Amino acid sequence: MKILNVIGARPNFIKIAPLLKAAKSFPSLEMVLVHTGQHYDYNMSRIFFKDLSIPEPDIHLKVGSAGLGHGEQTGLIMERLEEVSRQIKPEMMVVVGDVNSTLGGALVAAKLQIPLAHIEAGLRSYDRRMPEEINRVVTDVLSDYLFTPYQYARQNLLKEGIASKKIFVVGNIMADALKQYFRPTDALHRLGLRPACYAMVTLHRPVNVDDKNTLKGIMQALKEIASNLTVVFPVHPRTHQRLETFRLMAKADSGNLVLIGPLGYLDNLNLIKNARMVLTDSGGVQQEAMVLGTPCLTLRETTEWVDTVKSGMNKLVGNKPADIIRAAKVLLGNQKINEPRLTGAPDAVARRILKVLVEKRYKETRSPR
Ligand code: UD1
Ligand code: UDP
Repeated sequence: MKILNVIGARPNFIKIAPLLKAAKSFPSLEMVLVHTGQHYDYNMSRIFFKDLSIPEPDIHLKVGSAGLGHGEQTGLIMERLEEVSRQIKPEMMVVVGDVNSTLGGALVAAKLQIPLAHIEAGLRSYDRRMPEEINRVVTDVLSDYLFTPYQYARQNLLKEGIASKKIFVVGNIMADALKQYFRPTDALHRLGLRPACYAMVTLHRPVNVDDKNTLKGIMQALKEIASNLTVVFPVHPRTHQRLETFRLMAKADSGNLVLIGPLGYLDNLNLIKNARMVLTDSGGVQQEAMVLGTPCLTLRETTEWVDTVKSGMNKLVGNKPADIIRAAKVLLGNQKINEPRLTGAPDAVARRILKVLVEKRYKETRSPR
């Protein structure tokens, strides 16, 4: 069976790696890899291929993102992927996560009547101001095989009227990747950091970084936290641009608040694992902090990863400076050390997904839905 796997942005690369690796032990599968080019800087794309031993993409759509609106970006992905899909004639398309490359892939598959599998289906923040929420809802409604990380995501899908026979609770592919690929690097040494003596920050949600006053407030909060412990902040390109445009960059990178470029996967995991706390608005980082045993403050009002909050490892603090500072102080006063949860068979999730696809367990994919 020929499967077209569509990826394009940083979190996609991490989610596809375990699947492509596990596919090597399924001889009936031919995996074709398409990179849309949504992310393209070395530190946003290529480094993940290196860290996660992902093979070179078979096809690169070179779509990019600089200066593109959502419609333009998704449209370009669709136009180019449609042509590629017509040539390759896959029997199945796989999309992962919730970025515009996921949505573009899903729409092309649906229009060309290619059975569609979505990995990380059923996650909902119930906040349609997030472009990702729209991508998730549309991708899920178009999918024939919906692979969810946990029961709660399955319940979300059932509430939206998705047939239960299409839903497979397989576990969390991000955690699967972490367990398989994590290894110590010299990142802390290179950055002059000592374990448990720094906070780690990632930020890139439009709601946090696209508005000048909001971003300014968050940066002030980080400065305040940096008066108690070093704060290291690998800056996403969107955030970098906004800090420059709003003229916040020069003031931001000083003293104990250290701004660096985006990190590779392994260095990033090493920083999360050894941090006193993580402050983030990323989906993936919330998950990874939980698995690695590091307390997390999420600078959002909602999360699609409710398990992290239920576990007590993650707290939603929103983006108001006073709330962020207060929550960080509470964590600083808390001496509890958490253990990483790196147990469990590392390639179980990917294998479960592939078994379902190989056996085409849900067969009536082309019947009316
Ligand atoms: C995208 C996803 C988001 C995901 C994030 C992961 C959508 C709608 N958003 O957001 O869900 O959490 O990726 O990181 O799909 N840029 C560069 N170099 C790059 C990539 C981007 O400079 O390699 C700059 C571009 O100027 C671009 C901006 O970052 O305009 C935003 O990129 P884009 O892919 O549109 O969205 P992200 O904010 O990265
Ligand atoms: N990540 C990384 N380097 C960084 C920041 C994040 O490798 O500088 C990794 C992070 O560990 C996680 C993934 O990128 O595995 C999450 O991507 P991102 O936060 O960009 O997107 P989201 O998960 O919010 O969609």
